[in-house]
Amino acid sequence: MKKSLVVLTGAGISAESGLKTFRDGNGLWENHKVEDVATPEAFAANPALVLKFYNERRKAAAEAKPNAAHKTLAELEEYFDVKIITQNVDDLHERGGSSNVLHLHGELSKVRSDVNPSEIIDIGSKPINVGDKGKCGGQLRPHIVWFGEAVPMIEPSIEICEQAAIFLVIGTSLQVYPAAGLIRYVPRNSPKYIIDKVLPASAQNDKNIVFLEGAASVVLPDLKKKLIEEFL
Ligand code: APR
Repeated sequence: MKKSLVVLTGAGISAESGLKTFRDGNGLWENHKVEDVATPEAFAANPALVLKFYNERRKAAAEAKPNAAHKTLAELEEYFDVKIITQNVDDLHERGGSSNVLHLHGELSKVRSDVNPSEIIDIGSKPINVGDKGKCGGQLRPHIVWFGEAVPMIEPSIEICEQAAIFLVIGTSLQVYPAAGLIRYVPRNSPKYIIDKVLPASAQNDKNIVFLEGAASVVLPDLKKKLIEEFL
């Protein structure tokens, strides 16, 4: 029986694939005010702007390639029962070879009817525009969790974290809840590692966390060796 290795990832793991993060220096949000593009109110007020923002991100994500960090997580499946909980809406984990990926904040490649949320359509990298409707006649919108909306996958994510024998946090500023609170559900005696360029503020006084400073694609291959030596 392989040990459970649970990985929480954020925009930082896709940064080296060329996808912008949200809160780094030149983060994406600086080009757009969050209130202007990632809330239901924004979509109601200016659907064309919101759809354009996500069409651009969908295209960029489709053109991006998985990097060594994504691939290393896939390689770890040979040694551990790897479960990835990602805040990212790109599919780089899947394209990097990971087989167990839970998208906490939705997926760029999916859209859903604004009237019937259970009508979810996979559009790959195609754009959607105002006037594009689902079967039930509702305007199509990104299948993405916007600020102020419920996070339907948080319960399954908590259950996964409660079973973690080892917990990795990679490339997230841990500023957005409930995702940032998942680390609290990991058993106290399970080792926790954070890979980031800077230690997230919310983790700074948790002495149980091993902070590995650096770019995910550089640090993760070394950590893979260490995990195999130490836990197999
Ligand atoms: N390697 C490792 N970490 C990196 C790298 C890298 N190459 N580049 C950046 N980082 C780190 C940054 O230091 C930062 O801690 O990635 C983190 C990115 O943080 P954010 O931009 O806040 O992204 P994230 O934590 O994923 O945001 C969470 O906020 O806007 C919402 O829904 C959106 O899912 C997103 C959520």
